[in-house]
Amino acid sequence: MSKHFLLLALIAWATSSYSQDHLLQNVYNRTTISLNGDWKYIVDPYENGYYNYRYEPFDQQPTPWASAFFLDSKPKDASDLLEYDFDKMDNLKVPGDWNTQKESLYYYEGTVWYKQSFDFDFSAKGNRLFVYFEAANYQAEVYLNGTKLGTHIGGFTPFNFEVTDIVKAQDNFLIVKVDNKRLKDGVPTLNTDWWNYGGITRDVKLVETAAAFVEDYFIQLDPQDTKKIKGYVQINSKDAGAQKLQLKLPDLEINQQLTTDQDGYVAINIPVEEIRYWSLEDPFLYNVAIETAQETVKDQIGFRSIRTEGTQIMLNNKPVYLKGISIHEESPLRDGRGYAKEDATQLLEWAKELGCNYVRLAHYPHNEHMVRLADQMGILVWEENPVYWTISWDNESTYQNAETQLSELIARDKNRASVIIWSMANETPNVPARNVFLNKLAAYTRAKDNTRLISAALEQKNYRGDPTIRTIDDPFAEVVDILSFNQYIGWYDGLPEKCKTITWKIEEDKPVLISEFGAGAKKGLHGTKDERWTEEFQENLYVETLQMIDRVDKIQGFSPWILVDFRSPRRVLPAIQDGWNRKGLISEEGEKKKAFFVLQAFYRNKN
Ligand code: GCU
Repeated sequence: MSKHFLLLALIAWATSSYSQDHLLQNVYNRTTISLNGDWKYIVDPYENGYYNYRYEPFDQQPTPWASAFFLDSKPKDASDLLEYDFDKMDNLKVPGDWNTQKESLYYYEGTVWYKQSFDFDFSAKGNRLFVYFEAANYQAEVYLNGTKLGTHIGGFTPFNFEVTDIVKAQDNFLIVKVDNKRLKDGVPTLNTDWWNYGGITRDVKLVETAAAFVEDYFIQLDPQDTKKIKGYVQINSKDAGAQKLQLKLPDLEINQQLTTDQDGYVAINIPVEEIRYWSLEDPFLYNVAIETAQETVKDQIGFRSIRTEGTQIMLNNKPVYLKGISIHEESPLRDGRGYAKEDATQLLEWAKELGCNYVRLAHYPHNEHMVRLADQMGILVWEENPVYWTISWDNESTYQNAETQLSELIARDKNRASVIIWSMANETPNVPARNVFLNKLAAYTRAKDNTRLISAALEQKNYRGDPTIRTIDDPFAEVVDILSFNQYIGWYDGLPEKCKTITWKIEEDKPVLISEFGAGAKKGLHGTKDERWTEEFQENLYVETLQMIDRVDKIQGFSPWILVDFRSPRRVLPAIQDGWNRKGLISEEGEKKKAFFVLQAFYRNKN
């Protein structure tokens, strides 16, 4: 066997030894090296760079062929046969979806390979290095210097791999295969009402840590005792054994010397007499520092309590009415997936201008800027797992996929005071397999994080067959903390005047949210309130719906669908939709429609 193949055999062996690591906590505040920018790319609809002609994955073969794209092979001499060359290809920007960067990729669903090169020197001997992806939609295979680091499934949550033993001082090549094909057994499944943006859609960073570093922590107010801060710190150390650390919250005069167990774990239980609680009026964030002998990790954490009491949602033991709006993750400043702080700032400023104290981040985890800004701006947040419509409830790997994506969302955002609701799903059918699936997901979530509330966007039904009385007839309503449902009376269900004829019969003694209502309108199209697609029709839908909502005393808030018009391949009505869902209160050009001001007035008058 030639030296070349021997090397390949070694690489192949190494590829099996890497799997995804525990998610690094608070990369947001760590010192990192950005790998954002121009990446070379190869469009590979037949996955020719991944499978041989027998459809066997190259990276699972003892001797991957040189034609395997992850090797970034170069011709050995003039006679050598190679049919790809990353370095001669065009660039895609990372972060960013490919659909809106290249016209030829607008509708593309398949594999695109990305390559980035970089040099790297450790700043201290013994340090460790991780590559951290904030998101890639939908499935990513990641390789560094020809070694497979691992696979990530799910288009909206972060993942990282340790590369300490693989990275070199010069000429590292990071290659990522991203495949955004929709899958029947995927999460979400084949059909959604949003654009299937593919690519490395958020930031990519190198994170250097000390040999023993702060891998994770959960620091929140004890849900059972608002004068106690509780949680844990997890140190990751190559060498087993107890680790010493300091937990500092200077504004609370806390400076705890802690010693972990043999696995690097230590629980936190700190009684605190006086706490400045995080609130809508005063979204105060405490400086938190976790110091080990080798590094300090800093964060800003708000302490608040969130619970339900009968039909009320209690924030810091006071009832709160959720004046919300639903939001998709699209940039209001440029086309395509949102990912930047400026995108998040614009969206949340519009929400504030609307009079919101709450946003529903639909239908999947948004980028971290959204929750970090919500923490600072005093906006409550509903975050959602992309268990959307009719997924493969009977498929165990589909459940594991949903649970893993939810665990990654909780891992990333569990220290964010603004996040008060974990939503399990959206508009899923009330069938036995779904009920088992969602009950399991809810139990898993409560075990991971008992400091927040659980909900899901359910569907409403006629009460005992009477279409003028609506109710929630869904066993999952017994499981959730907050009963939420979508309703489209006046749009999909009659016309807006129908709202006058409807009463609601909701028997659960729980807070109730309406997670969606709305109507489509083309910005600038005017007519009578009876002409669908006009701003006047949408405006009237809001007038009628808000009057109906005001008649239902159990409702503790709502998040109309939706802040901004968004792309959807389902919406093809010429001259009106043209590939956009028009239920936004703001057009994709940033222009407010008449209904925006109806909702704004309602929120202003709502105490
Ligand atoms: C559904 C769904 C949304 C969709 C909306 C609509 O309720 O939850 O994702 O975009 O209705 O039809 O516009």
